[in-house]
Amino acid sequence: MGKVDTHKLAIDGKEPNNLRGDPITNDRYFSKEFMAKEWEYMWTKVWLIAGREVQLKEAGDYIVHDLISESVIIVKQDDGSLKGFYNSCAHRGQRLVECDSFQSSFRCPYHDWEFGLDGNVISCPDEDDYPQGSPVGKRKLVEVRVDTWDGFIFYTMDKEAPELMDYLDPLPEIYKNHNFKDQIRAQWVRVELDVNWKFFCDNFNESYHTRFVHPQVPSVIDQDHFTSRYEMFPKGHARIIQMGRPSLRDRVSEGEDHPFKMILEDWGVDISKYVDYENLSEQGWLDLKKAKRKKYKEKGYFHYENLSDEELTESPFQFIFPNIAMGVQADGCILLNWFPHPTDPEKCFFDLWDMGYPIGGSAKGIGKTGRDDSQEFKSTSAGIGKKDTYDQDIVNQKEDNSIKLQEVELDIRDYDGGRGVEDLWDHVVYQDWQLTDGLRRGVRSRGYQEPYLAAQESRVRFFHETLHDYLNGKPPK
Ligand SMILES: [Fe+2]
Repeated sequence: MGKVDTHKLAIDGKEPNNLRGDPITNDRYFSKEFMAKEWEYMWTKVWLIAGREVQLKEAGDYIVHDLISESVIIVKQDDGSLKGFYNSCAHRGQRLVECDSFQSSFRCPYHDWEFGLDGNVISCPDEDDYPQGSPVGKRKLVEVRVDTWDGFIFYTMDKEAPELMDYLDPLPEIYKNHNFKDQIRAQWVRVELDVNWKFFCDNFNESYHTRFVHPQVPSVIDQDHFTSRYEMFPKGHARIIQMGRPSLRDRVSEGEDHPFKMILEDWGVDISKYVDYENLSEQGWLDLKKAKRKKYKEKGYFHYENLSDEELTESPFQFIFPNIAMGVQADGCILLNWFPHPTDPEKCFFDLWDMGYPIGGSAKGIGKTGRDDSQEFKSTSAGIGKKDTYDQDIVNQKEDNSIKLQEVELDIRDYDGGRGVEDLWDHVVYQDWQLTDGLRRGVRSRGYQEPYLAAQESRVRFFHETLHDYLNGKPPK
């Protein structure tokens, strides 16, 4: 697949012999005891994504991140740095704030203690009534560790956890040619789903289901297991790298519009020269790399500057332990983040972020970016046989280049069996969401058996073994 960018830390993610073979019991999907163990030994030990730096522009801007029974505030300081605190008053434990906002100081709604952005008490009523001494300048909020990677904000509740860059290793190096911090989050949707959070760890650690559940994808991203590359990393992260070209197995039938041809034409490649499907896929893929390399500046795709041959066309799908997946493409990224419900192990929350680069510099409308980007996602997610919608999107894009792509706010939806997110019907995650209820009910069955995994599902087992390492108090070093 052209130049291969395998990292030296990667181990073969399709080789079950690299794993122990721990049983994958079903209690993990519904038991409160298992959930409690995950909280004590895993969630409180890992680095968690809380948002993007672009959300915190001015001193006093803050994010509130809730996880199970815990809540954390991450706030921008006067010097531009970030600090994180437990959302619990240093007086008697009242929650200080409920959602993302801005304040120059935090005032407890119970007794009006006031905290500076650095967490120190700066005033309180009846300051002279404390026999043990005034809390001002003495008491403070309890800190959590905060750090960033390329525009993403992370925090950990564990004082002993490794540094973030160490925790993520080697992902910052692998994705160094991208600039996630320069991308714009054009869609940010959250739904609550009736399934244990680990359904998505399993789901995003295998692409065995994708040909079947997402039949629109193989026309632009080859889903065949024998053309893909699989990598697992020592810290529990794993990925698949799929070729950004049509599968030779799942073909768009003759006479149908082919999304890959549209991509080639968009880059000025003459598609009439391809003599057959193999030629279109194999030569077209090489031609696309060349065309992108040659024309990216004139087309305003400056974000291609540092991308490797592989990164220009291929489609890595990255799982970051324990609850993030990133579909990274040359023009943008979808980031998926899911987390448990506070009390019910058979529910979870799911965040979908669609992110893309501005195209042609910030002065020019970046509508094209967004449109291109969403078109790219649509082209990977729009159903074959639903080409009318797809064509209409292309038309809309061509007619309207002036739409400005903007950072969006969180859009919380009521999933309602899919009815609350019907506008996302052609998105791959919608197709995954539709599986959640059946999975929840099926894994509870007395007929549940130890999973019978294909080699291409080895990363599923890898995830559970990493989880077991945490639960046994031995997280990866
Ligand atoms: Fe899927």
